[in-house]
Amino acid sequence: MSPSSVPYANGDHANDTNGNNPHRGTILVTGGAGFIGSHTVLELLNKGFEVVVVDNCINAYKADADLPECLKRVQELTGKIVTFYLVDLRDLEKTREIFSKHSFLCVIHFAGLKAVNESVQFPLMYYQHNLIGSMNILQCMVEFKINDMIFSSSATVYGSPHFLPLTESHPVGDCTNAYGKSKYFIEQFLQDHCAANPHVNAVVLRYFNPIGAHESGRLGEDPAGIPNNLMPYVAQVASGKLSQLSVFGNDYETRDGTGVRDYIHVVDLALGHTAALEKMLEGSLSGLKTYNLGTGKGHSVLEMVAAMKKASGVDIPYVIKARRGGDVGEVYADCTLAATDLNWHATRDLETMCRDLWNWQSQNKTGFQPS
Ligand code: NAD
Ligand code: UD1
Repeated sequence: MSPSSVPYANGDHANDTNGNNPHRGTILVTGGAGFIGSHTVLELLNKGFEVVVVDNCINAYKADADLPECLKRVQELTGKIVTFYLVDLRDLEKTREIFSKHSFLCVIHFAGLKAVNESVQFPLMYYQHNLIGSMNILQCMVEFKINDMIFSSSATVYGSPHFLPLTESHPVGDCTNAYGKSKYFIEQFLQDHCAANPHVNAVVLRYFNPIGAHESGRLGEDPAGIPNNLMPYVAQVASGKLSQLSVFGNDYETRDGTGVRDYIHVVDLALGHTAALEKMLEGSLSGLKTYNLGTGKGHSVLEMVAAMKKASGVDIPYVIKARRGGDVGEVYADCTLAATDLNWHATRDLETMCRDLWNWQSQNKTGFQPS
């Protein structure tokens, strides 16, 4: 294994800094240095799992040969150790080496590229990271007899809604960009893989719009360049980094004409993963299962601006612009299935999402990088 992929610590034998070794087993988290992954790693550690992260840091800040900054902070917040490999999942050999060094209970697979516009410009790159990365992970799971996987999918697989709220049985696959298609293809691939291998279990989680940050203000979303998504943009306007928000369209058939989405606190989302993991490990989820993770409530762009203004105490200037290509007016989830099967529902309201986002943004104006 190359120097860049030497593990920071050996998770299979790692004690936390309090000397405890809870022995609940080791979870492989791909993309664990990312926004949702890092919050999930923290919750896994808090629940007594040991965690191995593999990430190529294409979208995560890492100062030196050490851990990515967000994982250093996860260690500080939990008092526990994270094992880290700087490996690209497109590299099957190096990925295989990680599997040969640990015995994983389950793989939580976040790693991938996620910017819609970029995926339209560079589809090949998106299919390489998202599809080849996923296939390599599954190949290693087969070789090392790891049967349980949780996969990060997206509400984007539903395309333009035929009905609301979106249930898991809504038709999928009508995606207009390579990012969305890559999620749809991986879902199809997992379905075939589970059908052919009855001992394999996969939980597909379709996220709606994750926002917010850890309540400590130490972990949050750190987008590269100018954010594409609404709330990171709004937060940077509130902090003075950007001058004003462009609201893409006020002529939708919604309460105030602006787009409506189902925003979910990233910590609730992370807890959706630990809920799925617990159920998987107790054997109550078998084969392929698919769940929406959202709140079931829709909020418009202008409602989000007002909520962020309230949380930050700062005015958020905006201008109304034309609709963004590919956008739909209204999207929100039906999360009944996750409540029934996983005993999970989102508990953090919009005020909490904006409070935590503002707490993160105001304390970390340059994200994870030193200012
Ligand atoms: P993120 O970019 O913060 O995290 C993804 C991580 O994967 C990054 O740290 C990146 O460096 C890593 N990565 C990318 N390609 C890799 C590769 N080939 N090998 C190893 N590591 C690689 O994104 P996120 O917001 O935390 O999203 C996590 C997952 O959830 C992604 O699969 C994303 O598509 C999905 N998702 C995200 C959202 C959202 O709005 N954030 C919504 C729906 C689904
Ligand atoms: C985006 C992705 C989608 C992904 C989802 C998950 C696009 C086209 N789609 O969807 O694939 O699954 O995130 O998080 O990127 N808005 C503005 N001004 C802005 C930014 C956004 O008005 O500067 C509006 C949008 O028009 C939309 C709402 O805010 O109505 C939310 O946008 P965004 O945060 O980009 O999320 P989605 O469009 O839901």
